[in-house]
Amino acid sequence: MENTVHVFEDSKSTAEAVAQRIFELAVNKSNKNDFFNMAVSGGSTPKQLFEVLAEEPYASSIPWQTIRLFWVDERCVEPTDSESNFGMTYDSLLHKHYIPVENIFRMKGEEIPADEIEEYSEILKNELPERNGFPVFDLILLGMGDDGHTASIFPNNLTLLKSEKSVEVATHPISRQKRITLTGKTINNADKVFFLITGSNKAAILSSIIKKTPESLKYPASYVGNYLNEVEFFIDKSASLKI
Ligand code: 6PG
Repeated sequence: MENTVHVFEDSKSTAEAVAQRIFELAVNKSNKNDFFNMAVSGGSTPKQLFEVLAEEPYASSIPWQTIRLFWVDERCVEPTDSESNFGMTYDSLLHKHYIPVENIFRMKGEEIPADEIEEYSEILKNELPERNGFPVFDLILLGMGDDGHTASIFPNNLTLLKSEKSVEVATHPISRQKRITLTGKTINNADKVFFLITGSNKAAILSSIIKKTPESLKYPASYVGNYLNEVEFFIDKSASLKI
């Protein structure tokens, strides 16, 4: 795993740095008359990024018609539920209607999980290029929980890293909430993978992952890298305290 670590003063400047990279990547694809296929995660850190993207300078500079939006994972709830990752993305960005509705590919948390993973896997097959038998995203944007989980791949279910399916059903280890999640092989097949991680509560685990300590093997986030085994971390000073 080739780690590139970018450290910023605080969570806002970290989100702004990721927004700038998304802008650059989307413009690059727009210039090639191609779509920019991006999968986003839930959580408070990605939320801050969506709020930055919703405002200037990105509101009027990003080629929004180029972006096709997918999800990394979703809680098995209605899209209007406060737990919904789609709902959070709608409230922080999608309510601005910059992205054409036909370019928004929502994981349907309200459906039967076993059915939705097949449905979403089919959507990925139809909408995205394929490499090594798995769909290829231009960018997958990940958060990391303070237990080292990423997407909805939790430490008690590392098998989701090796699943031959592109999308699987996961279960939150504490709440037992069902989730829909991209699998490790789908995530690691992306052209680019960005982690957006802030806060001192992530510092110890993040340090273990970046230093590749034996303990890091417990954490799903330590198994993540793009198809070339590269990953970029966008973190704030608080999260970098133990590196
Ligand atoms: C989810 C997310 C999850 C999240 C991390 C970070 O559905 O909960 O996809 O992987 O990105 O838990 O969340 P915070 O940014 O809120 O710490």
